[in-house]
Amino acid sequence: MKAVQVSTLNGLKKLYLSEVPRCNIMEQSSVLIKTISIGVNRMDIMQREGRYPVPQGASQILGVEASGYVQESTSEKFKIGDKVMTLVSGGAYSEYIVAPDCHCMKIPEGISFNEAASIPENWLTSYQLLNFIAKIKSGDSVLIHAAASGIGCAAIQLCKFANAREIIATSRSQSKLDMCKSLGATHCITISDSNNFSKMILDATQGRGVDILLDPIGSSYFKENISCCALDARWVLYGMMGGSNTTINLAQLFSKRISFHTTTLRSRSFSYRTSLIRHFSENCLNQFQDGSFKAVVDQVFSWQFAQDAHSYMEKNSNIGKIILKTGSFSEN
Ligand SMILES: NC(=O)c1ccc[n+]([C@@H]2O[C@H](COP(=O)([O-])OP(=O)(O)OC[C@H]3O[C@@H](n4cnc5c(N)ncnc54)[C@H](OP(=O)(O)O)[C@@H]3O)[C@@H](O)[C@H]2O)c1
Repeated sequence: MKAVQVSTLNGLKKLYLSEVPRCNIMEQSSVLIKTISIGVNRMDIMQREGRYPVPQGASQILGVEASGYVQESTSEKFKIGDKVMTLVSGGAYSEYIVAPDCHCMKIPEGISFNEAASIPENWLTSYQLLNFIAKIKSGDSVLIHAAASGIGCAAIQLCKFANAREIIATSRSQSKLDMCKSLGATHCITISDSNNFSKMILDATQGRGVDILLDPIGSSYFKENISCCALDARWVLYGMMGGSNTTINLAQLFSKRISFHTTTLRSRSFSYRTSLIRHFSENCLNQFQDGSFKAVVDQVFSWQFAQDAHSYMEKNSNIGKIILKTGSFSEN
């Protein structure tokens, strides 16, 4: 089968398409999927560069999500020809992938393969951050940094669905915030090196601060973030795009009784992922079908040009998701 591989050229790690041995179904309750569309994630870039440890037992091939047709099945849930999307622990940049049926979801009616491939990693992560970790409730105020990202676009909609009071979206690019507004953000804030964004967050929340802070940035926003938090805020760090080293005065966290959480989805256990996928499927898949949730796809690249897709993400150009296409663009 074909798969995207990594080669080193003049010290740079680049992607190319080549032949690898085909994967086979080895277990019961599994499906072999012929991939049509594949989601691109930041961790794929880090893995390409050798900076992301692949979980034990996972394929060394890049990619954690895809959509396509079931080609072989030992599952009672899915039959040959079904359209599915899946979250896997590796190996999605391939012509075929094998996945346990409990980590696959039927593609909702009216959703294209490209849109479907954009759902598993971003929406399951956002769902986990808000519902499993921050335990969002109606009336909460939420601050979503890098809100035009794949995760941010999902998080805005999940906050709206949960009846959040204020949904505050930030971006360093003002032009990205129109999308955030259209998805349901109540306040949009452009962050620059020169502004103290905490003042704007406090203005937006009548001085209270936010109950939930979704943070993929880390150290560069850390001090301002503390000032943004309300009493008893839940702060979830799920990325460190702005660095990992910081010094803080713990008394500031203490005086606001801030709960600070960190999480990674890819290293979670099989059963945790199964439970997350089941919860998400039961509570959210219908909303895609009836149009209340929108899977935001920015650019679609042929997988021959996977390297260009990575470069596009590295330049922070995307609003929502970048997709790789294994076959014809007409099959979307
Ligand atoms: N913990 C987990 O389970 C988990 C799961 C999935 C992803 N992640 C992490 O979540 C983060 C977002 O992923 P994604 O797929 O949503 O990303 P994405 O769609 O590529 O968007 C990332 C956006 O973040 C902003 N950004 C980049 N570097 C920044 C910096 N130094 N300071 C401030 N903003 C910055 C840029 O937008 P602007 O133009 O708006 O600045 C960029 O477009 C990544 O770090 C990823 O590794 C974590």
